Amino acid sequence: MSLLKRIERGEGGAQGGSSGVGGSPGKLSGLQSRRASAPQVKAESTLADLKTRVQQRLLAALDPGMDISQTAEVRRTIRDLFEQVLQEENIVLSRPERHRLFEAIAAEILGFGPLQPLLEDDNITEIMVNGPKNIYVERKGKLQRVPVTFEDDEHVMRIIDRIVAPLGRRVDESSPYVDARLPDGSRVNIVIPPISLVGPVVTIRKFFKTPLTVQDLVNFGSITPEAVRFLEACVKARLNIVISGGTGSGKTTLLNILSSFIPHDERIITVENAAELQLRQEHVVTLESRPPNIEGRGEVTIRQLVINTLRMRPDRIIVGEVRGAEALDMLQAMNTGHEGSMTTVHSNSPRDTLSRMETMTLMAGMELPVRAIREQISSAVDLVVHQSRMRDGSRKVVAIAEVSGMEGDVISMTDLFIFQHGGFRDGKVYGRLTPTGLRPKFMDKIEAAGIHLPASIFGIGGKRR
Ligand SMILES: Nc1ncnc2c1ncn2[C@@H]1O[C@H](COP(=O)(O)OP(=O)(O)OP(=O)(O)O)[C@@H](O)[C@H]1O
Ligand SMILES: [Mg+2]
Repeated sequence: MSLLKRIERGEGGAQGGSSGVGGSPGKLSGLQSRRASAPQVKAESTLADLKTRVQQRLLAALDPGMDISQTAEVRRTIRDLFEQVLQEENIVLSRPERHRLFEAIAAEILGFGPLQPLLEDDNITEIMVNGPKNIYVERKGKLQRVPVTFEDDEHVMRIIDRIVAPLGRRVDESSPYVDARLPDGSRVNIVIPPISLVGPVVTIRKFFKTPLTVQDLVNFGSITPEAVRFLEACVKARLNIVISGGTGSGKTTLLNILSSFIPHDERIITVENAAELQLRQEHVVTLESRPPNIEGRGEVTIRQLVINTLRMRPDRIIVGEVRGAEALDMLQAMNTGHEGSMTTVHSNSPRDTLSRMETMTLMAGMELPVRAIREQISSAVDLVVHQSRMRDGSRKVVAIAEVSGMEGDVISMTDLFIFQHGGFRDGKVYGRLTPTGLRPKFMDKIEAAGIHLPASIFGIGGKRR
């Protein structure tokens, strides 16, 4: 987008916050005298007025043809002009104020406005905008409100527009909710009025250039080294794995980590709604589904992509998340020579994972008898790894269960590892993922892959911790 366009979009908002300011020359002395005595709120609003005014002058002075993709250069120009405007208007600010003002203005012109500092803060994993004045973030797994606000609904809408416009998308009354992505890969969901009754709502799941590693998970206490060793063996031995858990429980993160165990000489095809996985292997093909366009055409579903992958000679198929009819195609792929496939399912427990898969398979509309579906599931899925978001904000693998066959009409599952709760103290959840003492039935597959796991991993023989 050219600077001119951005200015056109930006200027309206700048005015939105400038009610009654009008660039009066007495402004500065007002600011200075108020700074000493006025309450914080007043100083904040004065600074906001000043920001609007300086921003407007700056926008008027900047070359509209400037290519704002050259961020560093534009930033330098903005800084020069910024200093010039402050000097011309004889505005004196303390060093931190000057810094804050410049960053806020740069964020409006180049970035995502008030969201920019939150996006840049690596401690923040999620950002939730509930209308212009209520902004929450997730830090270290905990939700907290932050003292960041937009001017009004309009201001939020302008930033939303900045997010979706480069993607050729639109959010308006006729399509009031949309999934999008920031240039850095962060996942964004937007819902606006009239669907949302609290103003425009933006939810951002931040994307980390350096994703969590298996060592991070062990350090956080999310999983034990023994369980990791077991899961690594399962991936290498081409078992079919379903990772399950609630929203934000860390399913995608774990899928990414388990995928890292796939040998480098295999052809991996990933299918996702919004590409979140970051595989390190060289031979990876990434496919992304697509929602319908404004005329309601051109949709490409996960299901269509899963079917298509079968014609792409995959060694492994990794589906970011199954939520519907694609469950059937995924099961068929797992059953027909694409062993070692992995996916995630939203569920409350390992057993619930299987019943969700059953329901999703029914959504394919093939009118298959339930027993046939269960047989498909039991022969396709080898392992369910269930993860939870605990009440202290930590994420933990709470169960690793083998899908061991059918007993009558029921799929049988065997817990191999279970999280033993050790209580809740000082705001922290204690406990450990413990082997149950049972060996999986599929041990022969692991052995056949040339991997030897000591019995102690399963809590057999040696002392249990
Ligand atoms: N083991 C972990 N310890 C701490 N934080 C984690 C862990 N796993 C994931 N996270 C963080 O939790 C957030 C959610 O992770 P992730 O996207 O993997 O969850 P999800 O279950 O796939 O979510 P969704 O249901 O929305 O797809 C991310 O910010 C991620 O960095
Ligand atoms: Mg996910």
